[in-house]
Amino acid sequence: MYLSREQEKMLNGEYGWVYARALEVIVKVGESLGAEKLVPIVHAHISGVSYTNIGEPGLGFIKDFYSKGARVRVYSTINPGCIDLAGSSQVISSSFREKQLEINMYLEKMGFEKTFTCIPYLHRKPGINEHLAWGESSAVIFANSIFGARTNREGGPLALAAALTGYTYYWGLHILDNRVVSTKIDVSSIRGEYYGALGLWLGEHIREIPMLTGISGRLDLLKILLAASAASGDHGLIVLENITPEKTYLVNDKIETVFVDENEIEEYIGSMPSRKDKILGYIGCPHLDPYEFEKLVEIISKNDKGVGDNLLLVSIPYIYMEVFKDEIGFLKSRGVDIVVGTCPIVSKLSREFDYLVTNSGKAVFYMSRLHKLNTYITSFERTVDLVYGG
Ligand code: F3S
Repeated sequence: MYLSREQEKMLNGEYGWVYARALEVIVKVGESLGAEKLVPIVHAHISGVSYTNIGEPGLGFIKDFYSKGARVRVYSTINPGCIDLAGSSQVISSSFREKQLEINMYLEKMGFEKTFTCIPYLHRKPGINEHLAWGESSAVIFANSIFGARTNREGGPLALAAALTGYTYYWGLHILDNRVVSTKIDVSSIRGEYYGALGLWLGEHIREIPMLTGISGRLDLLKILLAASAASGDHGLIVLENITPEKTYLVNDKIETVFVDENEIEEYIGSMPSRKDKILGYIGCPHLDPYEFEKLVEIISKNDKGVGDNLLLVSIPYIYMEVFKDEIGFLKSRGVDIVVGTCPIVSKLSREFDYLVTNSGKAVFYMSRLHKLNTYITSFERTVDLVYGG
């Protein structure tokens, strides 16, 4: 692999042991994939920071790197951990609170922004053709497909190494020639409330990079669709007609258009829970953005009942805790279990449910496997309705 003078110095330990090890990992992975060089990045986003997932070995690794002088060299953000940072959840277990706070502390001392969210683009919007090194598959696909940025789906250690060195290997979706659409899929007959199910279908049925035509322009729906396809498949880029910026992808000369209708995605939608089922209504996978959050507050405020036993679990980015203090207070007063800086997939549940009702295909994908719940995908509004027993 070609290395610049500065990269060689880093690899040879002139900037210290930590940076040499971090660059060595990137170079070795890059070489094994056939990358010819490294590319500077402007933003790293690390996932795999939940103590529930990485345990003592992960905590030990982060602590060791910090104590050996690891500090980020580029703007770097953090995915959710396993605890509710607001500290009041009845649904998310707080059993690893001290351990997660220790992980968070080391990362903050290394220079990571205190984001704890899977929508890091809310903190810093990626530019067109900008090189990033992001973990968190839902954020990666959003960065490539919506913003036209360039990032592969990085694992936690590689994204950490990129945050420290400021480089990643020039391979995969960093290269325009690898961002080639080979099939068109017309989804115009699918309603927005089923974009979670559509995303799951896409992830399982489509291997190449598709272009979706006839899609909604609503970013909240596209976020749901993209996250689901990245969860059930290995997509890092789905080109969205009239949305993905031009010149950030190529299109094969002769491609066919495939039509998908709601019959084909039916099995991913699931069936409605019965009145006897104890349901968890979950909205916020990926995390809610302020637009969705305000919409949710509006919906809940139209109903003067509390959500009672049927708790609604919602996540918002940490930075909005202060901004939306009053709204959060209002939701809590209605019995909404609102969590910050985490989600039920990277944490443990402290209560049992029979059914998950959600607008998120990604939540369905993981919660049905991790927590063995029956699932039903519907709209944002209908999720709230069902929580109210409607
Ligand atoms: Fe985010 Fe957790 Fe879903 S990290 S994308 S809310 S699985």
